[in-house]
Amino acid sequence: MVSLTADLNAHADGGRVAPLRPDRNLALELVRATEAAAIRAVPFIGRGDKEAADGAAVDAMRAFLTTVSFDGTIVIGEGEKDHAPMLFNGERVGNGSGPQCDVAVDPIDGTSLTAAGRNNALSVIAVSDRGTMLDASSVFYMDKLVTGPAGVGVVDIRLPIGENIRRLAKSLGKPVDEIVVSVLHRPRHEQLIAEIREAGAGTRLMSDGDVAGGINAARHNARTDMCVGVGGSPEGIVTACAIKALGGHIQGRLWPRDDDEKQRGIDAGLKLDGHVYEADDLVHGSNTIFVATGVTNGELVAGVRREGGYVYTESVVLRGASGTLRRISSEHLTSKWLRPA
Ligand code: FBP
Repeated sequence: MVSLTADLNAHADGGRVAPLRPDRNLALELVRATEAAAIRAVPFIGRGDKEAADGAAVDAMRAFLTTVSFDGTIVIGEGEKDHAPMLFNGERVGNGSGPQCDVAVDPIDGTSLTAAGRNNALSVIAVSDRGTMLDASSVFYMDKLVTGPAGVGVVDIRLPIGENIRRLAKSLGKPVDEIVVSVLHRPRHEQLIAEIREAGAGTRLMSDGDVAGGINAARHNARTDMCVGVGGSPEGIVTACAIKALGGHIQGRLWPRDDDEKQRGIDAGLKLDGHVYEADDLVHGSNTIFVATGVTNGELVAGVRREGGYVYTESVVLRGASGTLRRISSEHLTSKWLRPA
């Protein structure tokens, strides 16, 4: 197996591994696929049809992934093969050469946001060495706790939220009333939201999109300090790939909706009953890549913008191995992009 690190530092030459070739930067190649997915979703922003938006993004992402030099297996995709014609769990992606990787795709995180024309929708791909990503797809939801580096060794998902807020405030050196916690605005979080406010912290209620919510909470100088609550399990794994690059904290507990789902999780070898998955259980090691392009505007990245014959995109590329977050602004000729596929 060629690891991502080896691939980024070397190129295969007749089976031998040779020194670094800068053009083999998988992370930067992957951005083309999230850019493509975001651009193709543009005609569907605010049009009320989330399936059509997702379908366009899936088609574009898959087409671009076939050109990327890697041998990827989708661990987290659009679902089981029977229900997802493309980017299904287990599908091989890439041109088959280069490093063997686990791949998580979310062509649009925030399909409802996109359909409504609201902020914070992203197109996302996360990659790690083969065999390192947790396949949590049999349990739809995960309870998560995400912070930046100040929360590492300080907060714990098993503690009451008020205690985590006090600990984080102390570690950040700021008063509790300056702590802002983001949570998906859902009826299941009523109690959690009340407890956050009782502790003296503020809330940032998200209508959707807890991947961006988690990353924003883990970034320095961001407007939120912590992201908590129950969201998608796949989103938890994807977020973990980004958190590795930010040096932050992430923990997750699977949250089955009923006994049948719990049983499916157990059958798939997952740990339930409150078991805490640490960052390294969600994705093992730090050799992760996370790329995201804004579909609609958000705090993390700007959404796709069309102006004067050009389409503008903004993306972030996070690499766990180097601890970097890069921002990529691209200009694309509209005539090449928004014509019918
Ligand atoms: P989709 O784009 O797949 O609709 O996901 C949006 C999202 O808000 C995720 O970011 C989040 O993890 C999940 O849905 C929460 O699920 P639910 O809307 O069922 O509470």
